[in-house]
Amino acid sequence: MKIKDFGVEIWMNLYENNCKHNLAESCVDSMTVEELLEMTGRTDEIMHHILKMQMSYGDIEGSPKLIEGIQSLYKHVQPEQITVTHGAIGANALTMFALIEPGDRVISVLPTYQQHYSIPEAYGADVKILQLKPENDFLLDLDELKSYVNDNTKLICINNPNNPTGALMDEAFLKKIVEIAKTVDAYIICDEVYRGLDHEGSGFTTSIVDLYDKGISSGSISKTFSLAGLRIGWLAGSEEFIELVNRRRDYTTISCGRIDDYLAGVALEHKEKIIKRNHKIVRDNIKILDAWVENEPLITYVKPKSGTTAFLKYNIDMPSEEFCVKLLESKGVMLVPGKALDMEGFLRIGYAFSPLDLKVGLNKLSEFLKEVSC
Ligand SMILES: Cc1ncc(COP(=O)(O)O)c(C=O)c1O
Repeated sequence: MKIKDFGVEIWMNLYENNCKHNLAESCVDSMTVEELLEMTGRTDEIMHHILKMQMSYGDIEGSPKLIEGIQSLYKHVQPEQITVTHGAIGANALTMFALIEPGDRVISVLPTYQQHYSIPEAYGADVKILQLKPENDFLLDLDELKSYVNDNTKLICINNPNNPTGALMDEAFLKKIVEIAKTVDAYIICDEVYRGLDHEGSGFTTSIVDLYDKGISSGSISKTFSLAGLRIGWLAGSEEFIELVNRRRDYTTISCGRIDDYLAGVALEHKEKIIKRNHKIVRDNIKILDAWVENEPLITYVKPKSGTTAFLKYNIDMPSEEFCVKLLESKGVMLVPGKALDMEGFLRIGYAFSPLDLKVGLNKLSEFLKEVSC
């Protein structure tokens, strides 16, 4: 099976650990285990539990406590409608593995997490791309979606909130997508790995799984909960879908790490504290980024409504990869080139970490923009 290289992951692997100012990061400032346990006020008890934990495979499809924590993120989801995966990346891959046959039509937005179109393509699906455009606030065009669905449509792939643009589809908009999917009985997978990080209100926009019986939510502990190192994700969907996925999951996963599962359960038990911490980071920092964009004549963007990243349009005649490599070499600042996301002419920036680091990185980026534009 041939598959296209995963642009953003290759880029991150190349530079993430040897740049000075990482403005490419998409997690909200990852926590240490100590920080997590301090939030619980039960560090000794939890450490004792881990020390005594037998290193068996544990609960194959996720421990009851973790499943309960995941269930609490949705309105109408029962424990049988959840399975635990190796990150949201595992959740998305398993969905494709379970659903896609050669010749199926799959519709995916772009830009998005590349799994959503490159895996179906590799399975021989007939993939249609819905290009998200800044002039539509990076929201998909519903008429275009209507024109792409046909009787072979197996799956519609969306990402809400969207990486890289930070665009957010509200419940009313999602319902319109559901209506279109229903006309051809298609599944919708919504990658909701940034759900909980809206810049207003509770932070949690309605999940697709609470709107549609063929809606599938993929999520994880990585971004909204700042614990990517646990490598815990999940799928929430209909019982039939979860059964189908679990038959495939037996071939790829067995179970997730027991310590990971346990700590993810602890984190979700204390989710309010983590969300409070993370809302402060994203909601304060978007103001810093917004003020910078306002004063930067060579940059425009659609202000993100959620998530941790923004997609910057730069008005300099230079391919995005060359721009990012030169920026890294001269200023030590890492961004993600649009090319790695199959959208030339843009740069992805992450803004969900220390405000001081963000300001320093943005100043360096301004210096670079001045240098290359004259
Ligand atoms: C939209 C989206 N989905 C899924 C993932 C994978 O996340 P994880 O496997 O850490 O949960 C990422 C990571 O960047 C992402 O941005």
